[in-house]
Amino acid sequence: MNRADLQVDGDGRLRHFLTVEGLHRDLLVEILDTAESFLGVVEQSVKKVPLLRGKTIVNLFFEASTRTRTTFELAAKRLSADVLNIHVDASATIKGETLLDTLRNLEAMHCDMFVVRHADSGTAHFFAQHAAPHVSVINAGDGRHAHPTQALLDMLTIRRHKGDFGRLRVVIVGDILHSRVARSQIHALNILGAGEVRVVAPRTLLPVQAHTLGVHVFHDLEAGIRDADVIIMLRLQRERMRGALLPSAHEYFRLYGLTAQRLGLAHPDAIVMHPGPINRGVEMDSQVADGAHSVILEQVHYGIAVRMAVMSLAMRRRLPGAEVREQEAG
Ligand code: NCD
Repeated sequence: MNRADLQVDGDGRLRHFLTVEGLHRDLLVEILDTAESFLGVVEQSVKKVPLLRGKTIVNLFFEASTRTRTTFELAAKRLSADVLNIHVDASATIKGETLLDTLRNLEAMHCDMFVVRHADSGTAHFFAQHAAPHVSVINAGDGRHAHPTQALLDMLTIRRHKGDFGRLRVVIVGDILHSRVARSQIHALNILGAGEVRVVAPRTLLPVQAHTLGVHVFHDLEAGIRDADVIIMLRLQRERMRGALLPSAHEYFRLYGLTAQRLGLAHPDAIVMHPGPINRGVEMDSQVADGAHSVILEQVHYGIAVRMAVMSLAMRRRLPGAEVREQEAG
């Protein structure tokens, strides 16, 4: 069974959210539209809707995270779910418990959804394969493989600023090789029909088969960002680098850092994005990070709505009557 099959039920509705790869355009659009409908919730004086009241969601983070974990937690709380945060240091896996034991124990506590981040690619998929039928698994980042909710919050940010994807030139700059974000963004942009997707990186930070991902490859930043509508800067993922792939951070900034002057080569209305955390003076200077083109903090804001959308859609099949319909469907 491939990952897309595991993610959707027979009617094409979301069951787990593990990767963007292989998903249908309509499903991505449904997630984005649902997220739009949640944007108003945070502006209400009571920032909650009762959609997941009585459900228990576990944030299971085996790897450090600030933005992603807190926005998943806020999203769950705004849907009125009960949320449990399980920290790596306090978890039993360091005492030798296997991932499967962890899953079975949490299921025995009647949890309904797991949000999983792990340094190893495939962990969320492993959970989804072994989870009880009523449990949903959301991938919050697995190794270098995928970070689907990040990609969709980026798509929502782009759509709200730029509208139709078909006319857009989107440029992703930096450490593509180690980036689960870039991989998920490239899939999402291609599925949503972006006009052109470019990647800009030194050869040492590109996957060997980069051109097969459906992107145009550039090694020169100034050529790559020319006339861009959207520029997505990536962090140097040093924790994933084995060996010296870069001369120095200073040298990297000299060649690949986004400055106001370089930004001038892009479309005058270009937006600048970054999944965070930013290394100021390495990927971009502060003038750009805090400047008029930057939508980096909007990405964080949209992250909550997108995570609310994914959680509520994955749980939708569990509304009263849904299980009976599922059984009937075979
Ligand atoms: C990204 C991640 O963890 O993959 N960050 C995030 O989710 N906000 C990118 C990164 O760490 O550079």
